[in-house]
Amino acid sequence: MHFSNEKPGCCHPGFSSIHGGDFMDIKNVLVGISGSIGAVEIQNYLAALRSTWGASVHVIMTESAASMLQSKTVNYFIDGNVFLKSTDSTDQFKIPHIHLTTWADLMVIIPASANIIGKVANGIADDLLSTAAMAAKCPVVFCPNMNEHMLNRPAMQRNMHQLKEDGYLIIDPGEEEAIQLSTGQKVQGAMPGFSQFIPRLEETLRGQGLYV
Ligand SMILES: Cc1cc2nc3c(=O)[nH]c(=O)nc-3n(C[C@H](O)[C@H](O)[C@H](O)COP(=O)(O)O)c2cc1C
Repeated sequence: MHFSNEKPGCCHPGFSSIHGGDFMDIKNVLVGISGSIGAVEIQNYLAALRSTWGASVHVIMTESAASMLQSKTVNYFIDGNVFLKSTDSTDQFKIPHIHLTTWADLMVIIPASANIIGKVANGIADDLLSTAAMAAKCPVVFCPNMNEHMLNRPAMQRNMHQLKEDGYLIIDPGEEEAIQLSTGQKVQGAMPGFSQFIPRLEETLRGQGLYV
């Protein structure tokens, strides 16, 4: 997996997304998991990042995500660590929101709840994930996952528009079969199914001239 910086000023007015050179390997991926029901399927997405890109992965989980899915379980699917709080220091990542985002070539927030989208779109940094998304210098990709009523709210649409304006990337939610709620129906407003995750991620990066 390679980033390209050939397209000047492509996506991130506020981000120095490419660290120099024409192409950059994505070796380090920081995954943010927020409190959407899609979190329960995250292991397949984490596995895809490792098997397809050979990426090294650290994870940040919000409190809501950790109430849906045990951080211990997530830990089995990554070579890195799971971070829950801003004060979860390790020797390598003493100040997690700074050191994790410096380490990362790419940050992917999947699933992205309405809440995390609203917070980052409005400059609110009140937990580790929102703070990291704001501190990141690398590209940050949001994969919204919510029901269609939430998705279609004007506030939600405004927030997603604002994120794009601010240089964040969004994998536009669609009608997906992979994530089904209790209705058993296809879900409008869902993140890509895991088999589509890497292709959609690459397509999103390519669309911004960040991937060749
Ligand atoms: C079982 C359950 C499923 C949920 N699924 C979603 C969801 O798919 N999308 C969403 O935006 N919020 C969902 N929520 C609501 C969020 O968890 C809630 O807004 C929370 O504050 C999000 O916090 P976070 O963004 O810090 O993770 C769900 C809540 C519960 C209890």
